[in-house]
Amino acid sequence: MKTQTLDYQNYSEQNKIEMIDFYNEASEDYEFWSNDFNMHFGYFIPFKTNPFKRDSMLNQMNAQVIKCLNIKDTKNRLVDLGCGMGGTMRYALKQFKNIIAYGVTLSDFQVQQGNNLLKGKNGIILKENYNNTSFKSNSFDSAVAVESFCHSGHGENSLKEAHRILKPAGRLVIADAFLKKDATELCKGAHYSYKSLCDHWSLEKLETHSFIKEKLETLGFKNIKVEDVSFRVAPSVLHVPFAIAGFILKKLLSFKSIKRESLHNLKGSFYALITGLHMKSFGYYIISATK
Ligand SMILES: C[S@@+](CC[C@H](N)C(=O)[O-])C[C@H]1O[C@@H](n2cnc3c(N)ncnc32)[C@H](O)[C@@H]1O
Repeated sequence: MKTQTLDYQNYSEQNKIEMIDFYNEASEDYEFWSNDFNMHFGYFIPFKTNPFKRDSMLNQMNAQVIKCLNIKDTKNRLVDLGCGMGGTMRYALKQFKNIIAYGVTLSDFQVQQGNNLLKGKNGIILKENYNNTSFKSNSFDSAVAVESFCHSGHGENSLKEAHRILKPAGRLVIADAFLKKDATELCKGAHYSYKSLCDHWSLEKLETHSFIKEKLETLGFKNIKVEDVSFRVAPSVLHVPFAIAGFILKKLLSFKSIKRESLHNLKGSFYALITGLHMKSFGYYIISATK
């Protein structure tokens, strides 16, 4: 049992090192995915978002996440736990003038470039681990985690830290892919695509949405809402093959080689699409809760 725990710790540490390297080298590629550097999937609303315009769906995901925060017109301290290039922060700052936004990431590239994109705005990106930040307890009104907690395997530590830094009545919103059943119950095809996805995108593992709900309850969160938005997200996932083909073509036409990390990212995107097709095993959820 002890050796098993140590093995997992080593795996987790190795995964973190690979994840940081991945984002330092491949973050710039995301400009191809999103002009606004959104590093997540989108949210489709018929007759509102154009399914052929990726960024309109990606920004709609930001809108949906922020809507769940129930931001009023008083001062609101927001933290983005795993903020990437700050896409969600910039969207929130544009919508609300009363927000002060903090983002955390472990990638130096994202800290530097993300802060450049935030110049003149009421936000800052810090190099911090969302599992163990230096923020004071009870200091934020809002916390979001968009496709970021999966890198730490949707672990309890991430939820615990979010709970610690949120003020009483503060809101947490998580948008991510989750398992619908235990990983041991996956069929061969689902298991293969899931393992390949984790490997290529440096995800420690995914958890079930029911595990997250249970942990949020144990931590003392209230008003927990778990919403399956898989069908809303699907149109943006279908952009993946076209985005991959376009990215490769652009590199070929400019006689530029493709970095190892970029290739890894492209393969990860492909496995995300394959994983998403196993709809009985995986789903995309927006989970919100109040401290
Ligand atoms: C797929 S990106 C999503 C970025 C952003 N939330 C978005 O939607 O554009 C995942 C992000 O999580 C960050 N991340 C992963 N593990 C982290 C950790 N332990 N502490 C802080 N950030 C982390 C990565 O650096 C990256 O910025």
